[in-house]
Amino acid sequence: MSNKLYGPFAQIITMQGMPLHGALQDEQLHIVEKGGILCDKNGKIRDIGNYEAFLQSEIDTEFIRMPEETVAVPGFIDSHTHICFAGNRAADFAMRLNGKSYLEIAETGGGIWRSVMHTRQASTQQLAALTQYRADRLLQQGVTTIEVKSGYALDDVNELKMLHAIQLANDAVAADLVPTFLGAHIKPKDFEGTQQEYLDFLLEKVIPVIVEEHLCQRIDIFVEQSAFGIEESKTYLYKLKEMGFDITVHADQFTTGGSALAVELGAVSADHLEASGEQEIAILANSDTVATALPGASMGLGEPWTPARKLLDAGAILAIASDWNPGSAPMGNLLTQASVLAAYEKLSTAEVLAGITYRAAHALRLEDRGRLKEGCKADFAVFQGSHYGEILYNQGMLLPKWVVKNGQLVVGKALE
Ligand code: NIG
Ligand code: FE
Repeated sequence: MSNKLYGPFAQIITMQGMPLHGALQDEQLHIVEKGGILCDKNGKIRDIGNYEAFLQSEIDTEFIRMPEETVAVPGFIDSHTHICFAGNRAADFAMRLNGKSYLEIAETGGGIWRSVMHTRQASTQQLAALTQYRADRLLQQGVTTIEVKSGYALDDVNELKMLHAIQLANDAVAADLVPTFLGAHIKPKDFEGTQQEYLDFLLEKVIPVIVEEHLCQRIDIFVEQSAFGIEESKTYLYKLKEMGFDITVHADQFTTGGSALAVELGAVSADHLEASGEQEIAILANSDTVATALPGASMGLGEPWTPARKLLDAGAILAIASDWNPGSAPMGNLLTQASVLAAYEKLSTAEVLAGITYRAAHALRLEDRGRLKEGCKADFAVFQGSHYGEILYNQGMLLPKWVVKNGQLVVGKALE
């Protein structure tokens, strides 16, 4: 395999040199005009620069040409999804349209429990195929790294089945799938014991297998009145943190408390935050915990937006993720969700792009992607157009014509 030169691009938006924390102006975007991206044999970026200058150089290179009216951006990173699930929750959605709340539906036998019933019945292969299908749909949007949670099985055998299915899907798709254990999504209706006893069961019966089989490095929990309380969550998460896991929290979705716990624990991210107020915003802004907005859940439930503008102005690290799941966020379109959030919350294009590239990468503690620069993975999406502003302007309806993962073209064909 030789080096590969991609281009010429009207604009390459590299995201180089931009800060991790706080508000961003579009003027801070680092843009290479009439540029080329040179990838090495190992699927990493070797250099980014003027396309014509690359053509003059003498290195052994395969040329992969694209029209000049194109814009290249780092492959997007969806740092929070639940795309490993079976069945659907159209009935829940219809009930919400008729005025029932998410929590009321959960109390009457719908909600997460309905998805657990479907997911327990699916085989590992069926779940892997469903995950693969959804990961491929995200790839078509330019998403090259996708976090995927377990959490729709809630017993030892089936939670492990979900993690195995995610592993199988990861081997079959072009995107990188990053698994997270969400056994602590809710206490399942068929577990006889308290919330605390269910968390102890996970620690005793599931975590040791996860460690032995290297099934994942990340742990999530749903901290909420209807799921797990602050004190029991704290004990559970501290134990897992001591074992070396990265912690992430479903926090402040309906009531507050989860985000402060996430920061206290040094969690990599606190996600949702629709209910966060001034106090929570200040705590997150003074931490290295990424604040992740999930506009797809606000849209799916008709709930308020995460206060993204206030979080950025206070200095937080803001990521934006799809939360693609059968209940609260069935849409699965990250670009639509991010651009609609931007319109309501008045986010700059630079802030949105940062939220779905290097800031999302930081939530996954993957520092080898999310920016286009030497040594990083050659993961990028190429849109037709001459200005990067056209991407969000089209609110998800402009899909990339080409996607490159580890230096290989995985969506679209090169020009002859
Ligand atoms: O991120 N809030 C908790 N978990 C998911 C929804 C799960 C479901 O309703 O199936 C979320 O919104
Ligand atoms: Fe979620």
